[in-house]
Amino acid sequence: MNLDSMNLIFSLGKNPLLSIAEIFSVFQSRDIEYTVILADQNFLYLNIKKVIYPDILIKILGGTISIFRVDDIVPRKDAKKIKKQFRINLYEDKVVLGETVAKQDIYDFKKKEMEKPYINPKEGMLPSKLSKILVNLSITKDTNTIYDPFCGSGSICIEAISQGYNVCASDISQVAIGGTLENLKWAKKTFSQDLDLKIEVFKHDAKGQPDRLMNKEFNIAIATEPYMGENWKKPIPKNVRNIKTIAKVDAIIQSSIKSMSRILKEKERFVITIPTFRTKHDIIKLEAREKHFPGLLKISLLPKDFIFDGKKVDTISSYLYNRDRSIVSREIFIFEKQ
Ligand SMILES: C[S@@+](CC[C@H](N)C(=O)[O-])C[C@H]1O[C@@H](n2cnc3c(N)ncnc32)[C@H](O)[C@@H]1O
Repeated sequence: MNLDSMNLIFSLGKNPLLSIAEIFSVFQSRDIEYTVILADQNFLYLNIKKVIYPDILIKILGGTISIFRVDDIVPRKDAKKIKKQFRINLYEDKVVLGETVAKQDIYDFKKKEMEKPYINPKEGMLPSKLSKILVNLSITKDTNTIYDPFCGSGSICIEAISQGYNVCASDISQVAIGGTLENLKWAKKTFSQDLDLKIEVFKHDAKGQPDRLMNKEFNIAIATEPYMGENWKKPIPKNVRNIKTIAKVDAIIQSSIKSMSRILKEKERFVITIPTFRTKHDIIKLEAREKHFPGLLKISLLPKDFIFDGKKVDTISSYLYNRDRSIVSREIFIFEKQ
C-alpha cells in the first residue's frame, strides 16, 4: 500500500448527496486533501492524500454506512479468481476489489437517542444521525464551538460534545433549558470525559440577537433544527389555526436567521433545517427557503463541476432529508457568513 495516499470507497446513506457534502466538509475542516474518482447514488470513491483512520472517521460521519479500502481494480474475467472480502462493479468491464475497513455503529446512535436522561416526547425527536450530519456540515477549520438556538432536548449539542466541540444552547422554553443542561452533562461524562469543554445553556428567544455570544473567544458555527409548529402525525388539516401556525414558524425562522447570523465570524456557517408541510391535498413551503439574507451566502459544499451519477451537479442550494411519507420534511440549508 502507498503510505502517502489511500483509495477509499464510502458506502452512502439514503441521501447520497447530503452524505457526500458531509464527507467533504469533514475533510476540509481537517485539512485532508482528496480527489474524487467517482460518485453515484451508492458510493463515493476518493483518493485521499494522507493516511487516515477509517475506524475513527466512521464514528464522526452520520451519513456513511461503511468504508472500503480499494486494493485492486481487475478485468471482470480475472476477478473471480482473486479472494477479496469486498468487490463491486463500478465499471462496465472491471471489478473493484478490497476490504471493508469500517462500519457504522448503529448502537452509538441508539445510545444517544434513548439513554440521555431528558427526553421530551411532545417535541418531534431529531434523529442522532441527522444531528451528526448538521454538526459536520457546519464546521470549518476554525470552528471550536457549536451553537443551537432552538436546542429542544439538546440532540445537536450532544453530537457536538461527542466530537470535542464546546457548545452553546438556547431555547425559549425553561423546561427545554433544564433538560438540555442535564443531557449535555451526561454527554460530556459519557463521550468526552477527558476534554475540557465549555457548556453554556441559556434561555433566549431566537428571534433576537444573543448578545452574550458576541465578543467571545468562541469561533461559533450554528447548527439547528428550528421550531416546527407541532409534532404533526397525519396530513395537516388546512384550517385557519394551522395556516397561522405555519406562518408563525416561517416568521420565527426568518427572524432567527437574520439575528443569529450577526454572531458569526466571516466564513463561519449557519446550518438549518427548514420544514415543508404536507396537507391532505398539497404541500406548503415556507418563504424562508427562497429568501435572500444579507451577509449570508447559500453554499452546497460540493466542488465546482462535481459529477454525480454521470451528470454535472452545480446548482444545489439545499439538501432534502426525508423519511418516506413524512408529514413534515426537512430541507437542509448551509449559509456561509460573508
Ligand atoms: C424542533 S425543537 C428542536 C429540536 C432540538 N434541535 C433537539 O435537538 O432536540 C424546537 C424547539 O424550539 C423552541 N422554540 C420555539 N420558539 C422559539 C423561539 N422563538 N426561540 C427559541 N426557541 C424556540 C421550542 O421550545 C423547542 O424546544
